[in-house]
Amino acid sequence: MTRHFLTGAELTAMELDALLERAMELKAAPRSSHALAGRSVALIFQKPSTRTRLSFEVGIHELGGHPVVLRAEELQLSRGEALRDTALVLSRHVAAVGVRTGPHETLEELSQHSSIPVINMLTALHHPCQALADLLTLREAYGSLEGVRVAYVGDGNNVARSLAVLGTLAGMDVAVASPPGYALEEDLALGAGASGTLTLHTDPREAVAGASAVYTDVWVSMGDETTAAERRSALAPYKLDDALLDAAAPGAFAMHDLPAHPGEEISAEVLYGSRQRIWDQAENRRHAQKALLELLVAPA
Ligand code: CP
Ligand code: NVA
Repeated sequence: MTRHFLTGAELTAMELDALLERAMELKAAPRSSHALAGRSVALIFQKPSTRTRLSFEVGIHELGGHPVVLRAEELQLSRGEALRDTALVLSRHVAAVGVRTGPHETLEELSQHSSIPVINMLTALHHPCQALADLLTLREAYGSLEGVRVAYVGDGNNVARSLAVLGTLAGMDVAVASPPGYALEEDLALGAGASGTLTLHTDPREAVAGASAVYTDVWVSMGDETTAAERRSALAPYKLDDALLDAAAPGAFAMHDLPAHPGEEISAEVLYGSRQRIWDQAENRRHAQKALLELLVAPA
């Protein structure tokens, strides 16, 4: 049975726990696994990327595999070849495929015709690989994630949605504060085994109260450029700065998936200061994704 990773809700709570534990082992010994020896993994990018490409490409190499990076415009897909046909051909050559695209439906359609694991490297709706790295970062700081509160302030976007899905699966209390019109959906589908809670707020201070980490993301995601001005104006009260961190639990740290816009959604003081684990998050992408690849890719 081919296992895909499209939203993160495909994992059980136990699998997520084991994956994070394994990611810690791989972080301590980055070249200890040869799970992809002699195998290739395709990485399709229909949108720009710095961290996702770096972490997957280097991580696959560290696992003994070969990453095949394919930019959208280089594929026949860009000339109208069907997603189905692309999936059928990929399935004959590589052990898994990562895809970064806009419409989540594109990923779903590709996965329906793929006999190899399809991994979501970001869609407009979900960014579950980012959430794995986020949870790894929180686990490094706090150990067990059960009952730990993480607050997300800002746009209720793909990063917020994936933090909610995977954070609650890990037993966390996820509090999301967004302005009206930018909130996550009330009926967001959480994982079947989710034991944590998701609460939606409009007041950022209410969300961060008691939180052990405060997370933000860009106000203008890829694809949202036409509404940039109204977004910046609506989201301005949600900036992550020292004052907002002061309103969280003592010792709380800032999180951001990057790329950041210092002075906009996060202050430069926080981004480059000592009250953040943002650069650890960026590194943890590689360790978490290596553990994910080990889980999804069946032995040859
Ligand atoms: N956080 C993240 O996914 O970064 P990139 O867009 O650079 O891959
Ligand atoms: N929300 C952002 C995340 C970038 C990694 C976007 O979709 O552009």
